[in-house]
This record gives sequence, C-alpha cells and structure tokens, in this order.
Amino acid sequence: MANGLEWTSEVWSGFTRLRKCYDPGREHTPGSGTVSVQGMRVLVTGSSGFIGSHIVDALREDGHEVRTFDLRSGEDVRDERAVPRHLAGVDVVCHQAAKVGLGVDVSDLPAYASSNVLGTAVLLASMARVGCERLVLASSMVVYGEGAYDCARHGRVRPGPRAEADLAAGRFEPLCPSCGAPLTPGTVDEDAPPDPRNAYADTKLAQEHLAASWARATGGSVTALRYHNVYGPRMPRDTPYAGVAAIFRSCLERGEAPRVFEDGEQRRDFVHVRDVARANMLALSSATPGELRAYNVASGEPHTIADMASALAAAYGGPQPIVTGEFRLGDVRHIVASPERAATGLGFRASITFAEGMTEFARLAGRT
Ligand SMILES: NC(=O)c1ccc[n+]([C@@H]2O[C@H](COP(=O)([O-])OP(=O)(O)OC[C@H]3O[C@@H](n4cnc5c(N)ncnc54)[C@H](O)[C@@H]3O)[C@@H](O)[C@H]2O)c1
Ligand SMILES: [Zn+2]
Repeated sequence: MANGLEWTSEVWSGFTRLRKCYDPGREHTPGSGTVSVQGMRVLVTGSSGFIGSHIVDALREDGHEVRTFDLRSGEDVRDERAVPRHLAGVDVVCHQAAKVGLGVDVSDLPAYASSNVLGTAVLLASMARVGCERLVLASSMVVYGEGAYDCARHGRVRPGPRAEADLAAGRFEPLCPSCGAPLTPGTVDEDAPPDPRNAYADTKLAQEHLAASWARATGGSVTALRYHNVYGPRMPRDTPYAGVAAIFRSCLERGEAPRVFEDGEQRRDFVHVRDVARANMLALSSATPGELRAYNVASGEPHTIADMASALAAAYGGPQPIVTGEFRLGDVRHIVASPERAATGLGFRASITFAEGMTEFARLAGRT
C-alpha cells in the first residue's frame, strides 16, 4: 500500500463501519498514508490536560466536533449521572482523564484507584447505556514494567523489581533472574506480558482490562494507545506527578543543573505531544468490534535520561546536568518500544525528532 499504511482487515472494517454508522456522506482520504474521517463527534475526557488539550486542537483542525470534559471545569468522569448526558450523540470517546505520575506513597492509592479505575468503569457503563461503541483509551508504557531483556544463555527473560539494596549500592542494571548474568535491553512490543510496578501502572492496566471486558460484552471497539514518555508544550510543571523532562526544565529555569537519577543510562522513548495527538486522530478510524487492540505510541528513537538532560541544558543554555545516583523505587531501568504495530495497524509514525522537540521544549521555558 502506498505511503506505508497497511490496509489491515481491522482498518478496512473500521472504515466501512464508520461510513455505515456515522455519516455516509463524510469525506475520507484512503491511500494518503492516513485515514481521515471528518466530522465525527468526539468526547475528550481530560480535555484541559497536557495531552487532552492537544487532542482537542488536532480534532478541531481535522474538522471534528469536540465535546470537552474535565475535572478542571467541574466535570467528573466518576459522576454516573452527568457522564451519560455528555455522551448523547457522541461517535467516539477519547479517554484521557486520569490521575497521572508515580505518586508520592501508598496514601495515593485510593485517589489513583478512584480517578482511573472507577472513572473508567463509570465511563464504560455510561457508553453502554447510551450506545456509544467506540473508545480510544490513553494507556501507557507503564503496563509493561521493565522493558525487554535478553540473556546470552537464557534468551528473553523478565527481571523482577529491582531491590532497594542494589539501587542504593549503585547496581542499577537488572540481571538475569536465572543465572545472574548481565542482560542486553531490547524493544518491547504489544504482546509483552503486562507487569505493572506501581499504583499508577496498576490502574492504567486495570483501565485496559475493563475496556476489553466492555468491548467483549457490548461489541464495542477499543484502541488502547500505550504512550511512552510524552513531552512538549503545556507539559505540567514540576510536581511529584510530573514527567522527567518537565522536572529538568524547571531546574534550568531556576538556574540549576538538572539532577539525573541513577547513572543516567536509563533508556526511554520520548514522544512529542503533537505526535501523540496525531496517533489519537488515526485511532478514531480504527475499529475492532468486540476487542481491545493495543499500540505503542513511541518515537522509535530511544535515548538515555542523561542524553535528554544534556539536550535540554544545551538548548536552554543552562548548566550541564549532574548525575546524582539517587533513585526512586518503582522506576524501571529501561523501557524502549517497538513502534511497528502502530505503523502497520494505524499508519502512525512519529514525525517530530528528538532534537527538534527538545529544542522547542527548552525554548518554551518560562512560558508553558
Ligand atoms: N504524560 C505522559 O507522559 C503520559 C504517558 C503515558 C500515558 N499518559 C496518559 O495520558 C492521559 C493524559 O495525561 P496527561 O499527561 O495529559 O495528564 P494531565 O494531568 O495533564 O491531564 C489529565 C487531565 O485529566 C483530568 N482529570 C483527572 N481526573 C478526572 C476525573 N475524575 N474526571 C474528569 N477529568 C479528570 C485532569 O483535570 C487533567 O486535566 C492520562 O490517561 C495518562 O495516564 C500520559
Ligand atoms: Zn541467564
């Protein structure tokens, strides 16, 4: 197929279904490398948030009708009476609302469970009530826990959580659980078994499980987008719940060097928020009746945390990062995604490079 989009059966069936269900007269552009389905009515939960606000912009740009929904404007996804009213006439729900971040300690558990698990359950039950059949779910790479690792003797292995004593002694790399040998990190694909490592991750996985049950029971379709490390304009500022790029940039704004935990060699995939919004646009037209289909939303260009801190410091013109050896229990060592399934199944490839995106992000310091 031209321009890299495979017309898989689910894309075709989704496409046909959309034409049938929503408006046969609406415009489609097959073969352009993207599938553009215009004029849908989309409810975005978490629409005032970092990623949700970019999705709202992208939807409007693509000619869709947007319904916003966010706790910041008094709308709560856990509200069983209000949610069905907001769903009337909605074609697709783009569910971004969640309590995010790693949390502070176990006192956060009820808040994570409430916002993320109960909130998603109420949303799904409400969708079933009003007959809304399509969900795009903001999931996360955190469902995987540690990334993929290979042992020279044992092949692909799954190291367990890292012990506090090892981290405190500067032994950051997980070892083979069978023979204790050093491991080579690889890329994680969507079939990797889930292995969440903290309360936030538990609730993101629970969202996927609930959505899959809903799809089976109702014949609805779920596209779960497992975002990797999202960054870019409007990223929330430095809090215990913020992403690492925002924390580093806040240091630079204060004239301080970014403080890089462990030895800085942790590998991550940083994906720009406008690319994430585009993945959501593509997901609108992917249907898998009765099923949840998960996709990594990643750049495919992994970097270490130290690289990222250096790129931000250089672009900002601030002090170079310092590597502190500090650590957070619950952080994983490496998590690098395969972007292939999103490319073949959704036609999504990230388009904003690390260099461009980090430079823009550093230069927006003080403004967003
Ligand atoms: N930022 C990342 O790197 C990243 C990575 C993976 C997954 N995600 C997921 O993407 C989604 C959006 O994250 P974000 O980074 O934009 O976070 P964010 O905190 O900026 O946005 C979340 C929004 O959800 C709203 N919200 C929270 N609870 C709500 C409720 N009960 N009812 C209605 N609205 C509620 C908040 O007010 C906020 O505006 C989340 O589901 C998150 O788990 C984010
Ligand atoms: Zn081994």
